[in-house]
Amino acid sequence: MTAKNALWSSFLRPFQSNLFSGLQKWKNNSNNYRNIPIASFKKGFKVAPKAPEPPRRVNLQDLRKWKREGRKIVMMTAYDYPSAVHADLSEMDVVLVGDSVAMVTLGHDTTQKVTIDDMIYHCRAVVNGCKRALIVGDLPFGSYEISPPQAMSSAYRLVKEGSVDAVKLEGGRKMAETVHRIVQGGIAVMGHIGLTPASVSAIGGFRSFGRNSKEAIEIFQGALALEEAGAFAVVLECIPHLVAKHITECLSIPTIGIGAGKYTSGQVLVYHDMIGMLQHPHHAKVTPKFCKKYAQVGEAIQEALENYRDEVMQGKFPNETYSPYHISEEEYEKFVQEMQKLRPPVSSSSATIPDNFHENVQLWKRITWLGSNRITCNIHTKKPLVVLTREPRKDEQLATLLKRKDINVASIPCVLQEKTEEFSGFVQSLPYLDKSGWLVVTSPEAADLLIEAWKLAGNPTLPLLSAVGKSTAGRFFHEHLVDDSHSIFIPSIATGKSLAEQLPISKENTKVYYPTSALASSTVENILIERGCIVERWNIYTTVSKEWTQEQRKLAETSCIVAFGSPSAVAVWSERVKHKPICACIGQTTAAACQKLGFKLVFSAKEPGLEGWVGAIEQALECI
Ligand code: KIV
Repeated sequence: MTAKNALWSSFLRPFQSNLFSGLQKWKNNSNNYRNIPIASFKKGFKVAPKAPEPPRRVNLQDLRKWKREGRKIVMMTAYDYPSAVHADLSEMDVVLVGDSVAMVTLGHDTTQKVTIDDMIYHCRAVVNGCKRALIVGDLPFGSYEISPPQAMSSAYRLVKEGSVDAVKLEGGRKMAETVHRIVQGGIAVMGHIGLTPASVSAIGGFRSFGRNSKEAIEIFQGALALEEAGAFAVVLECIPHLVAKHITECLSIPTIGIGAGKYTSGQVLVYHDMIGMLQHPHHAKVTPKFCKKYAQVGEAIQEALENYRDEVMQGKFPNETYSPYHISEEEYEKFVQEMQKLRPPVSSSSATIPDNFHENVQLWKRITWLGSNRITCNIHTKKPLVVLTREPRKDEQLATLLKRKDINVASIPCVLQEKTEEFSGFVQSLPYLDKSGWLVVTSPEAADLLIEAWKLAGNPTLPLLSAVGKSTAGRFFHEHLVDDSHSIFIPSIATGKSLAEQLPISKENTKVYYPTSALASSTVENILIERGCIVERWNIYTTVSKEWTQEQRKLAETSCIVAFGSPSAVAVWSERVKHKPICACIGQTTAAACQKLGFKLVFSAKEPGLEGWVGAIEQALECI
C-alpha cells in the first residue's frame, strides 16, 4: 500500500463503521491485544463467540470534526511498544513519536542528535503497539531543513519504513513551502511553532516564546502560513495562553498545546515527563515546569530495582515460590552421579562458605591457575599477595593497615578520578550557595575537590557541612573549613544512605548541595528529595581507567586476592585479566559487580569503613 493509499484508507474507514460503537466494543475488549474471543452468555442462551472488532484508527477528519465541535484532542508521545500500548489503552487520539526521544530515552542534552534512522526504529515499535491513535512521526533535526526535496524524501522514509500516518516538523513561515510540498506529495503534516526544540542552538536555549508582541505576531503568522500550506494541525509550544487562544480561534485546523495554556484545541505531553519516569535530579531540572506529573513511576522503578538487588544479595530471591522447576529425587541422584564423573563442582557462587568449601577451593585453584601452563600463582608463596586497585594515594591507609597485620600488598591501580567540566561551574557557584542549606560529601575524593573548589573560589562562607565518615570529615578539619567537631554532621554509619537518612533537616525545601562522582548512584539525592529537600547535585568528578605497565599486567595474571574499591575497578580488571581471583570488596555494590562479571569467590565488607574492608580481605586470605 502506498503512503497515499494508506492515508485514503484511513480517511474512508469512518464511513465503513460506526465510530462510537466501534470504540465501545474495543474498550470492552481493551485488554485483548491478543484478542482471544471468549463465549458470552445472554439470558441463558449461549451466543457464538465473536472476534472483537479491531479499533478504528483516528484520522484527520476526526480531528477536524473534534475541532469544530470543541471536543478536546488528547495527544501524547510514545517511543516504544510498551508506551504505545499504554497510550492506546488510555485512548489517546494522537500519538507522537517525538524527537524528544533523544532526550528522554537516549539521554542526549538536546533533540538534535537523533537521526532519521533512529526515528524510523522507534516509529516501528510504536506502530506495533498503537491500534487506535493517529500516529505522527517527528522529522528530526537536519532531515528536512535543507530543501523541500530533502524533507519529502525523509517524510517518505518515515511513512514507508516507519509506518506512521503523518509527519511533524518544526518551523513557521520559513517551513510553509516545505509543508506544502510534503502534503502535495501525499503525506499529512503537523506543524510545530513557538519553542522549536530542534533549533535550540540557534534560539539560545529552551525558553518560552511570544511574550512580546513582535514574537507573538511571528508565531501567529507562522500558524496561518502552516494552515495555508496544508498542515492538518499545529503544535504550539511554550507560548502565553492568550496568544495560543487567539491563534486557536483564528485557525480552522486544530492547535495542540504544550506549555501553551488551556485554550488550544488539544494538549500534548511527553510520556516520560508526565509519568515522573525520570526522577533523577538532572531530569527534574530538565522536566518543563508546565508538565504535571500524573505518577511517580521513576520512584516505583527505583524502589523495585533496589529491592531486587538487595534480595539477590541477601539470598532471598529467588525463594521456593520463584523456583518453579523441579527434578525428581531419583533423576537428581542419577544426574549428580553422572556429573561427578564428567566434572566435579569447582566453586561456590557466593561468599557464604559451603560445607565442602575447602575441597572446592582446591579444585578451583587447580583449574584457575595450575590448569594454565603460562601461570604460576603467588598462592604458592608463603605470604599471599593482596592486590590493591585504587590510586596508591587513596589506598595508602588501607595498605598501612594491611602491612601492620603482616599482609603482603601490591598496587595495580585500575581507575583514576578526574575532574569533570561541571567542576568549574561548581567553583563559580560556591560563594552563592544558600548558607542555611547543607553541603553533603559522601567520598574522600569529593571532599578533596570541595576543598580545592573552596580555595579557588576565595574561601567563601559555606553552607552547613556533612561528611559521610570520620576520615572524610578529617580533611575539612585539616584544611580549617570547620573549626570544632560541632560544625560538621557525621552520620552514625559511614554510608551515603545513612547520611541522607540522618541529616538534620528542620524545614521543607531545605537546599542540599551534593558534589559527587558522575558515576555515583542516585540513592543519596532520592532519600533527601523524599525528605522534602531541594537537592542540587554536582557531578564534579568521574572515574576513568588507568593503563597498566607490562609488570603490572604480569602481576595481575598471577594474583589470587584482589581488593576492589568500586564497580568501575572490577569492570577494568575483568576486561584485562582472564582469570578470576578471589575478590575482597569495599561494599555490597562492588561485590554485586564482581558476581555479575563472573567472579566466583566474592567477599565484601560487613561494616562500612576501612576496618570492614580489611575484614573482607582477611576472610579472602583464609581461603588459601
Ligand atoms: O518531540 C516531542 O516530544 C515534541 C512535543 C514536545 C510536541 O515535539
